[in-house]
Amino acid sequence: MLINLEGIDGCGKSTQTKLLQTKLDELGETTVVLKEPTNGPHGQKLWDILHGKRKATNEEILEFFILDRKQHVNEKIQPALDDGTIVLMDRYYYSSMAYQVAGGLDVEYIRNKHDFAPNPDIVLIFDLPVSTALERVRGRSEADEFEKEEHLKKVREAYLNLESDPLVRIVDSVRTPEEIFEEVWKLVSEVRNE
Ligand code: TYD
Repeated sequence: MLINLEGIDGCGKSTQTKLLQTKLDELGETTVVLKEPTNGPHGQKLWDILHGKRKATNEEILEFFILDRKQHVNEKIQPALDDGTIVLMDRYYYSSMAYQVAGGLDVEYIRNKHDFAPNPDIVLIFDLPVSTALERVRGRSEADEFEKEEHLKKVREAYLNLESDPLVRIVDSVRTPEEIFEEVWKLVSEVRNE
């Protein structure tokens, strides 16, 4: 089983990932949390771009994410799935379908470039207003706040546009972590029992 956790920076997905892993472990499942971008060679280049140390076009950024993801699928994701491990993806190709769409690329174009990637069983998108998310992460970022806010609004819109995707569940994340997790667990249980 492959569970993908998504959302804008500051949405609380790391907290929910930990709660979900703990719950699944308690039930005796074998789980692994995998994060993208990775620490591999392509991931390192991406971190340089994301931190402004290196310039790239949106198309180049997408290509780097895809190279990073191909390596991740081959080396970690597919082997874990083959072992029967439940894979919790803290960002996966749905991040590209939101962030790189916000950067100006077409969503179906991006989706079609991910034929190589095993599909998630469920994609949880933790949704909240950008202003609330930024309040949560304030201090963590040195990026220009206004620029960041405008960009994240586009990312949020791109995530919300994925609502009709059959794998996607939009989770209202303006609630306590416990309340959010209650819904997460209900949604995950539905696909787990299928
Ligand atoms: P994030 O998980 O938010 O990193 P941090 O540990 O710093 O919170 O991911 C880093 C950034 O990468 C985030 O702003 C989203 C971006 N990103 C994309 O633009 N496309 C992608 O495909 C992925 C996986 C991430």
